[in-house]
Amino acid sequence: MTDVPETDMAAALFSPSTADEPHPTYRRMRATCPVARTDLGGTAFAAVTRYDDLWWALRHPDVFTSAHNTLDLGEQPLIPLEVDPPEHTRYRRLLNPRFVPREIERLEPEVRGRLRLLIDEIGPRGRCDFHEEVATPLPSGVFLALMGLPRSDLPQFLQWRDDTIRPDVEPDDFDGARRVRARTAHAISDYFRLAIARLRRSPDDGLLSSLVEARIDGQPLSEAELLGISHLLLLGGLDTVTASLDCMVHFLATHPEHRQQLIDDPSLIPSAVEELLRWLTPVMVVPRGVAQDVEMGEVQLRTGDGVMLALGAANDDDTEFGEGSVDFHRDPNRHVAFGGGPHLCLGAHLARLELRVALEELHARIPDYRIADGAEVHFSTGIRQADHLPLEFTPV
Ligand code: HEM
Repeated sequence: MTDVPETDMAAALFSPSTADEPHPTYRRMRATCPVARTDLGGTAFAAVTRYDDLWWALRHPDVFTSAHNTLDLGEQPLIPLEVDPPEHTRYRRLLNPRFVPREIERLEPEVRGRLRLLIDEIGPRGRCDFHEEVATPLPSGVFLALMGLPRSDLPQFLQWRDDTIRPDVEPDDFDGARRVRARTAHAISDYFRLAIARLRRSPDDGLLSSLVEARIDGQPLSEAELLGISHLLLLGGLDTVTASLDCMVHFLATHPEHRQQLIDDPSLIPSAVEELLRWLTPVMVVPRGVAQDVEMGEVQLRTGDGVMLALGAANDDDTEFGEGSVDFHRDPNRHVAFGGGPHLCLGAHLARLELRVALEELHARIPDYRIADGAEVHFSTGIRQADHLPLEFTPV
């Protein structure tokens, strides 16, 4: 057993070049330093990259806790993300029934309708910024409808989303980023406090209203609990699907042979969504804290250490997925793009629905898109969202 090697390998996980092209870093880390310690912006952590280690860590919240508020994104813990079992289980029991496939399928006409409108807008032009004009408004519109919040609040929500995930400060200004996030968290809490008060007076049939009315063990949720859940749903619902669409459409625009498979056989789209989630892993890492000393990858992790579980690196580990790259016929596909264990993504079925319908509608109407001549597309670190995604295609 050795101590964690000092290396900048783990810091490479958060470098802009890795966000653009992550696989070489993932491969190097798995091969040479599968558990690597680093210090980023004053926060020390160890990065875990091999599939088996990561799979185990996700399923042992008693060892790898989520209740240490590393994300520091809200004014209160994000619920259920930053809560461990058994308390976590109470929240998931309340939330799960609202996110099961049967409930989510009801949203399909809404999702398809929104996509058709968005594609109607860009189609005749023969060019668009896919990130700005489709990938961003789609999940945001669906989320507001799901929550029962007014569509007119969309611009405000998008600003909060950006200020939280990508504060507009210099890349190494960690204090500045923390200040912007704190200010934003405060504004979001104020917004939801008012919405909750309004829904207590006059309930409606949206998700937020049903949470305001809900009981756990006979008790209503406190305002802090409602705010913690709302804040997390806001972040989960507005950003990850945008990032996934950016990653997928960028990949398909630059790999016409894969795109052609989906045009020839749209029934492949659901398994292509899983495979692209695996290969592109839009949420590159999830944080944990070590709750009890543990040895992993022949390295000693100590209570209190911060850990980053590098989902993207695990998702391309040959020991689980074999050699080779993207295979739309892969079966089974035990990817961890939605995490795993108790914190497995609550919104996975909603995300799958949005991604599937988006690829169906896009390829039915605009099969021949490519990245606009001369454009350079870059992705953000952590959650791989494109800075812009200019496409050209035959006008429709
Ligand atoms: C393709 C899109 C999405 C991806 C890649 C994604 C990814 C993830 C991942 C990796 C986790 C696990 C976090 C951890 O273990 O610490 C997670 C959790 C979560 N996600 Fe998603 N997500 C997506 C879409 C959504 C949507 C649309 C929503 C909600 C409307 C959502 C809500 C949540 C919530 C509430 C959790 C916390 C679950 C818990 O802690 O029990 N996600 N997501």
